Amino acid sequence: MNEFAIDPRESGFTRLDLHQLFGNDRPVVLEIGSGKGRFLLSSAVERPDHNFIGIEKSLHYHRVIRERVKKRALTNIRLINHDAFLVMRDMLPDASIAEIHVYFPDPWPRQRYQKRRIIRSEALSEMRRVLVAGGVGIFVTDHKDYYEAAAPAIAAWFPSEARIPGPDDPPRTNYEAKYRAEGRAIYEVRFRRD
Ligand SMILES: C[S@@+](CC[C@H](N)C(=O)[O-])C[C@H]1O[C@@H](n2cnc3c(N)ncnc32)[C@H](O)[C@@H]1O
Repeated sequence: MNEFAIDPRESGFTRLDLHQLFGNDRPVVLEIGSGKGRFLLSSAVERPDHNFIGIEKSLHYHRVIRERVKKRALTNIRLINHDAFLVMRDMLPDASIAEIHVYFPDPWPRQRYQKRRIIRSEALSEMRRVLVAGGVGIFVTDHKDYYEAAAPAIAAWFPSEARIPGPDDPPRTNYEAKYRAEGRAIYEVRFRRD
């Protein structure tokens, strides 16, 4: 294990002390489902005055990002390889996160699996708990059904607004780059902890 990669199977599902984790009190940005880490890595380079936590369930992608963080010697990223709902619920303190980013989460299109979606009431409740007052969130998908279910679910927990990314907005993640190149519609909801 590297010092910047946390495996809660080894360290336990206990509340993190984010000051201790990063060694400073800079605002913490959380990404759920970081994939290969494009958003996390580029943001960490562009915003050295912020700390970043990437939660990624897949061990393969977690390892990919870990190698990239190591290669670039980035000191403001921490990685957690587990389910984001459990990590939020059991490991993140109240009012500790300035931003939550969720790009192209698995849509779980079949009805019987939709309870696994990360945009669901119990996970939104955790997002509300962990965000600081005035903290913001962003959810992006290409999946219209998911968007249509997620937008009112988010609005039940946060002031929020839907937005369609413009053609000139730079893609933030690999999936966004791929889907926009294919001309797919992209749906975005931004929300704010009041
Ligand atoms: C479709 S990919 C999108 C990756 C990246 N965000 C992007 O836009 O390029 C979804 C990612 O979320 C991860 N994931 C799915 N469910 C998750 C969960 N409950 N907790 C953490 N990561 C999750 C998957 O392993 C996968 O890497």
